[in-house]
Amino acid sequence: MIDQQSISRRLRVYTCHIQPVVVIERELVGHQDTMGVVESTMLAVAIPSTMALIYSWISFPSHLMIKLDGATSLTDVIKAYVRLLIKVPSSLPAAKLVENFPVIEIQAPVVGETSHLDNYIKELNGRSDLMSDEILPPFYLNALTGGLQLLVMSHPLFPIRLLGAVNISNKVTIHVPVKKQWLKDGELTATSRCGEACLVRQGIEFDVVTNVYRKDTLVWTMVFRSLAFVKNTGAPSSVREKHEIDPDQVKSFVFNLTQNAGRIYAKIGYDINPIHVSDLSAKLFGFPRALAHGVWVVAQAEAHSERNDIIDRDSPQVIHTVFKKPTFLPANVCVKVQKRDDGSYFTVETVDKERATIVIEGSSLQIEK
Ligand SMILES: *[C@@H]1O[C@H](CO)[C@@H](O)[C@H](O)[C@H]1NC(C)=O
Ligand SMILES: *[C@@H]1O[C@H](CO)[C@@H](O)[C@H](O)[C@H]1NC(C)=O
Repeated sequence: MIDQQSISRRLRVYTCHIQPVVVIERELVGHQDTMGVVESTMLAVAIPSTMALIYSWISFPSHLMIKLDGATSLTDVIKAYVRLLIKVPSSLPAAKLVENFPVIEIQAPVVGETSHLDNYIKELNGRSDLMSDEILPPFYLNALTGGLQLLVMSHPLFPIRLLGAVNISNKVTIHVPVKKQWLKDGELTATSRCGEACLVRQGIEFDVVTNVYRKDTLVWTMVFRSLAFVKNTGAPSSVREKHEIDPDQVKSFVFNLTQNAGRIYAKIGYDINPIHVSDLSAKLFGFPRALAHGVWVVAQAEAHSERNDIIDRDSPQVIHTVFKKPTFLPANVCVKVQKRDDGSYFTVETVDKERATIVIEGSSLQIEK
């Protein structure tokens, strides 16, 4: 006779699933029997010390102003993502949090190898004069300072959990068109810092501001606005700038974003956010497929347009990009541009089975003198 208790510790293995002809019963070995005192002690030491090691590896200074003497590396970015994953967001109520938003600022030299820039241009896969152009592609400095921006948002005192937040918009000001030579000569430095934060209906909107200087002159600014969802803020919806274009006055062109576009830019811009890297990792964050990096889509749109058609590379201007919807990969993309006296309005649509979805709306306008 087999008693009730030993049955519950037996595992039934059917060798034929259509008709269970033979049933083999195996004794499950008790957990306690396999682990002696020595092993448990070793585990008790190993787990905390591994955690302490990981913790010291990912640790980052917690002062509010930090000056780095080298550019951020891929290792820094990986550590930043580990910090983001384990980040405990501030427990302050949203309104208090916005009021007390910290001013974290990190400075570093902008270091760009010529081969990195050449590779960026090659991957843009756009018009042929990009390689010989003496001006940097307008969003290239985002690829070079992406790591720095991430250091700000993964800083121990940054109050918001970045994973789960969405990108709302991006405003690049080209104060002075940036020459490739300046980068080559090591004349550029960048600072990245927390900008404004405000309460809106869906949560907290916050800016990360990155400035690039040539010696002491400000040449390039990017204000990246994101939204972290918080329920019941009681605040009104935020007002978005509209850039609707007149369909009768547009010039349009198409290009394709490949399935691996997210991985390509992850490598170039050190933006290894899992939502871009593969369909599987995007699913973990609730997206059906991998997403393109919004800024990379605009950079590619510019590279596929005629020179100075969307963005006038040779004069100071403000490029405002609003991310309306995620761009799922792969995608057939249609860009529409409406020229104006002071610049252009543009939209980026993805075209899927005859249906077009506007994913990005933007403008590039000259700075009034
Ligand atoms: C983009 O891909 C589609 C197929 O999905 C193809 O028909 C089209 O020619 C491609 N367009 C360009 C500009 O390569
Ligand atoms: C949104 O911004 C974050 C932080 O800069 C970045 O990691 C992510 O790739 C961006 N997402 C999209 C869809 O561009």
